[in-house]
Amino acid sequence: MSDSAGVSSPAKPQPWRLSDELKIVGHILFNRSSGSTHEERLENFYSGQATGYDAFRKRMLHGREELFQWLPTVPGGVWVDLGAGTGENAENWGPRLAEFQKGYLVDLSSSLLKIAEARIQTRGWTNMAAVHADATKFLPLEGSADVVTMSYSLTMIPDWFAALDQAYKMLKPGGTIGIVDFFVARKYPADGLAKHKWSTRTFWPMWFGNDNVFLNPDHIPYLQNRFETVKISQRRGTLPYMPFVRVPHYLFMGRKRVES
Ligand SMILES: C[S@@+](CC[C@H](N)C(=O)[O-])C[C@H]1O[C@@H](n2cnc3c(N)ncnc32)[C@H](O)[C@@H]1O
Repeated sequence: MSDSAGVSSPAKPQPWRLSDELKIVGHILFNRSSGSTHEERLENFYSGQATGYDAFRKRMLHGREELFQWLPTVPGGVWVDLGAGTGENAENWGPRLAEFQKGYLVDLSSSLLKIAEARIQTRGWTNMAAVHADATKFLPLEGSADVVTMSYSLTMIPDWFAALDQAYKMLKPGGTIGIVDFFVARKYPADGLAKHKWSTRTFWPMWFGNDNVFLNPDHIPYLQNRFETVKISQRRGTLPYMPFVRVPHYLFMGRKRVES
């Protein structure tokens, strides 16, 4: 399946199965995210969803493919995906993945990481590793990274600011950060940022909070403070089985400033 560079053609998506779909909807609706530690809560939430995860999240986690089209690769460089889940983002680079000397798929959920590991094996990605670690503490073996990404993981990390600080710490000066996630706007957003009605700012944090997904008005301002904004887009996307609603999400590409 893989070519000489260790990267094969795009994977076939996991087949859609009604049983997976029902299990996932059940987990989302009937909160299975209890536990005494963050890791335990994640595992309780995801262990029953791992099989159908990719097929379901493709219709829910919008903008991931586009973000990876925005992002530059760094030949011979290091890429780190924090909160990588099943490793779907590695697919989103397409053949450009082979340009990295090393890529790390970092996650705290063992069930989702097993899928990421299997994906690496199946694809023959010799430059990729799946790592069980906390995004707020992980550092690549090389000591630094050229590109750090997070897709829909920031909203699931309680100490999200620590994860962004860790991304900042590991990025080389001039390195790129790419984030895509749900959000709500501040009541009084800065110029150029989206405004949301009270109902949006109130309903979506409550709805997602049930599953320990914390939509936050401060993610974008913090990102813009920590990194130089290269490109940002704020939109809305659909949710499976909820055709009449649209949840706000953003794509952010930033650069770690080169201090003079
Ligand atoms: C909504 S999923 C997104 C997964 C993947 N990035 C995607 O786009 O499909 C959020 C992921 O963040 C992971 N996560 C949450 N907190 C974490 C932490 N502190 N360290 C590492 N991973 C974490 C979860 O286990 C989960 O896989």
